[in-house]
Amino acid sequence: MEKLVIKGGKTLSGEVPISGAKNAALPLMCASLLTDEPLTLTNLPRLADIATLADLLNHMGVGLMFKGGRGGKISGRTLTLDGATIADTVAPYDMVRKMRASILVLGPVVARMGEATVSLPGGCAIGTRPIDLHLKALEAIGATIELADGYVKATAPDGLTGGTVRFPFASVGATENVLMAAALASGETIIENPAREPEICDLAECLNAMGAKISGAGSETIHIQGVPKLHKATHKVQPDRIVAGSYAVAAVMTGGELLLRDAEPCHMGATIAALESAGATVSVEERGIRVKAGKRILPFNLVTQPYPGFATDLQAQFMALASIADGASVITESIFENRYMHVSELCRLGADITVTGSSATVRGVKKLTGAPVMATDLRASMTLALAGLVAEGDTTIHRLYHLDRGYERLEEILSDVGADIERVAD
Ligand code: UD1
Repeated sequence: MEKLVIKGGKTLSGEVPISGAKNAALPLMCASLLTDEPLTLTNLPRLADIATLADLLNHMGVGLMFKGGRGGKISGRTLTLDGATIADTVAPYDMVRKMRASILVLGPVVARMGEATVSLPGGCAIGTRPIDLHLKALEAIGATIELADGYVKATAPDGLTGGTVRFPFASVGATENVLMAAALASGETIIENPAREPEICDLAECLNAMGAKISGAGSETIHIQGVPKLHKATHKVQPDRIVAGSYAVAAVMTGGELLLRDAEPCHMGATIAALESAGATVSVEERGIRVKAGKRILPFNLVTQPYPGFATDLQAQFMALASIADGASVITESIFENRYMHVSELCRLGADITVTGSSATVRGVKKLTGAPVMATDLRASMTLALAGLVAEGDTTIHRLYHLDRGYERLEEILSDVGADIERVAD
């Protein structure tokens, strides 16, 4: 086991590279299941979640070849996935439990093979996170769904038909699952009220490069005209807007200035607005986004919403920022019901936060003080690192496997811009 030790108080300045987006890369990797020709993805982030999904895809028969790294399973930035043969249509419990996004194999495999069985997923402990919307959407386009012994089995022996899917509220994963499945259906599919996240557009773009006929991704209705076969393609994974937002918070909290290299401003409207309301100056440059701290951190209010609203995946990091603002901020989580597990750990560092229902009132304090803390989920881990950057004394973060699921070389990247942070054996 490893831990991060951070000595707070350094001002960050310089450039941070923004990796490809994990949440775009995972569905893109699953798209390889739709075709017997190779799919090459570039700009892949080097993360534990990528390796976990690579293992699952490999188990199902997809051949994997990483390039551009130093060897080892998660070192390459370019990955060719060869789904010539799907040898196993079952995604077993032992593999799916490690990562909830494994449910994204269900749609593509039933579409191509006429059947798919996936263990009911585990993943981040941030609420109940059901998969009912995934299943209803696949039913609407012609799959038969059965649940038994902790597994979901989808069948469509004569292929999927296509149909109309109306989501009662936007689900990113369910939209991705049905988008992939409908690409190979015999008829047309209309998705009403799909998720509009940039990751959905990235997936639609890749599927279209593979020969799919998808229009309207990123809008309120998506049309998919099914095709009998998809073919090979090469696609670049979009930059990670959540990683970029996290480093932006690091710049503002430490009173510094960072250039977020390769960050995509078009995907970050709500994040940039929140940074500005906290007093930061944000400017778009040719090479990325520059974030400069203001003279003081202003209190701000925000509510998490489906895209283009403020991302739930940045809620915890902005709470760290609010914890040292000049006044009280109110942060409301409207996507997940249990996404405040970082609150008690932030309070151990001296933050003053009261949670009432889905809202947290964060009264800014003059200083945080270092302490040993425990990461509870992926984004919460980053939040504790951010707090550690400004806390007086040493902050030690345990359970780094959460962090390694979504942030590449965090300690190296932060050290390069002036932080005092190191990963040590526990
Ligand atoms: C994805 C992201 C995750 C992000 C989330 C919301 C990936 C790999 N993960 O997760 O980082 O926090 O979007 O932006 O891309 N829901 C249902 N039934 C379902 C599916 C979802 O009730 O069948 C609910 C969820 O409990 C949640 C809401 O819908 O309250 C949104 O979840 P969803 O968009 O599906 O999140 P994920 O795709 O799991």
